[in-house]
Amino acid sequence: MLTGKWLDIGPTTQIQPGSARTLPVAGGEEIAVFHTMRGEFYALVNKCPHKAGPLSEGIVHGDTVSCPLHNWRISLRTGEAQGDDKGCTPTIPMKVDAGRMFLLREAVVGPVAQSGVAA
Ligand code: FES
Repeated sequence: MLTGKWLDIGPTTQIQPGSARTLPVAGGEEIAVFHTMRGEFYALVNKCPHKAGPLSEGIVHGDTVSCPLHNWRISLRTGEAQGDDKGCTPTIPMKVDAGRMFLLREAVVGPVAQSGVAA
């Protein structure tokens, strides 16, 4: 559901701490929304900057995720590869309000509006 500047993508209870959920967008792309064990939420394009591994299937440690393909660690805050690895996955601004998750609409408006993400 589109609500002004923010796109409501559903209740926070849809994502267990330490895991992620994906949202399909146009062109076969996905956004991965992560819920950390600390209770923080982050959204990134669901592609590792190395060889496009599905970050949503990685293991979340603090505010990073380990890619399931070759174990690069990616910052959930910035999308940057950690350590000696180089590369960056785009992040999507998001917020949590009253137990619901919202993505910044302008960051995803075209693809998400076309694919109709269910709340
Ligand atoms: S694709 Fe992610 S570490 Fe290689």
